[in-house]
Amino acid sequence: MNALPNTLRVERLNKASLRKVIEPEVDVAGALGPGQLVPDELLSVDGLGLDLTPEQRHRLAREELASIFHAGIVFEATLMAGFAFQMATGADVRDPRFTYALHEIGEETRHSRLFIRLLHQLEPQQRNPILTGWLHRHLGKRVLPALLRRPAALDAFVLAGEEIPDLLQKLLAEHPGTDPYIAEVNRYHRAEEARHLAFARTTISEHYAATTWTDRLAVRWIVPLYLVVMFDLLMVQPYVYETIGLPPWRTWNRVRRLPRRVELRRQCARSVLKALTGTGIFPGRVPYPWRRISGT
Ligand SMILES: [Fe+2]
Ligand SMILES: [Fe+2]
Repeated sequence: MNALPNTLRVERLNKASLRKVIEPEVDVAGALGPGQLVPDELLSVDGLGLDLTPEQRHRLAREELASIFHAGIVFEATLMAGFAFQMATGADVRDPRFTYALHEIGEETRHSRLFIRLLHQLEPQQRNPILTGWLHRHLGKRVLPALLRRPAALDAFVLAGEEIPDLLQKLLAEHPGTDPYIAEVNRYHRAEEARHLAFARTTISEHYAATTWTDRLAVRWIVPLYLVVMFDLLMVQPYVYETIGLPPWRTWNRVRRLPRRVELRRQCARSVLKALTGTGIFPGRVPYPWRRISGT
C-alpha cells in the first residue's frame, strides 16, 4: 500500500484543524431556551401513538438529549483512551498522524466540556445504569483493553460512534422546531466531526492491512453488534421513559421496533459500511453482520 496519499491527506487535516480553533466556552457560549427542545417528530417515541401531555413531551425532550450527550462524553473518552494508547506504545512521533491524533483529542476535550455544560443545563432526572452501573464498569474494564490493542477495530468503532450521532445531530440541526442553541451546538460538533470521520477513513485501511486476525474479525463481526447496541441502547437509554411515567424497558422495546427507528439505524449502518467499503477493506462479499444491520 502506498501510504503517501494518506499522509498528504492527514497533513491537510492538520492544517484544517489549525485554521479555526473553536473554544465552545467562548464561541458556542449560549444557553438552552425555555420551550420544548426537540420537536415531537424527532422524539424517539414518535409513531407509538402515545397520548403525552405537553409537560411530558417537554421533559422527554430534555431527557433524550441528556442521554445522547452523556453517551457522547463516554464515547469521546473511549476514543481519547484509544488514541493515547497508540501514541504511548510506539507510534512515530514525527508522523503527521500523531499530530492529527493530538488535534482530535484537543477537539474532543472541548466537545466533552460543552456536553457537560449542557448536561448541567438540561437537569436530567433519569437514572442511567447503562453507563454508570456495575455492568458498564465491568464491561469497560474488559472491553476497553481489548479494543485498545486492535487499531482497525478502534477505527471502525470511531466511525460507528461518530456516524450515529452525526445523523441524529443533522436531523436536529436542520429541523426548524429544534431549540436554536441545540441546533448551534450540533452544527459546531458536526463540522469538527467531519474531519474526525475523514481521519478514521484514512487510517483504517492502513491499520487493517497490518493488523492481527482477531482485529479483522472484530471489524467484521463485533463492531456491527456494537453499532446496534450504541444506536438502540446508548443514544436514548431506556430509563429516560421512566421520568415521564412510562415503563422503561417495555417502551424502549417498542421504540426500537418502530419502522422509523429501524430505518434510521439502517441508515447509520449504511453510512459506516459505505466508509468501510470505500477504503477497500471488504474486497469480496460484505460480511454477514454488516449486510444484516444495514438491510442491504
Ligand atoms: Fe466530538
Ligand atoms: Fe470526534
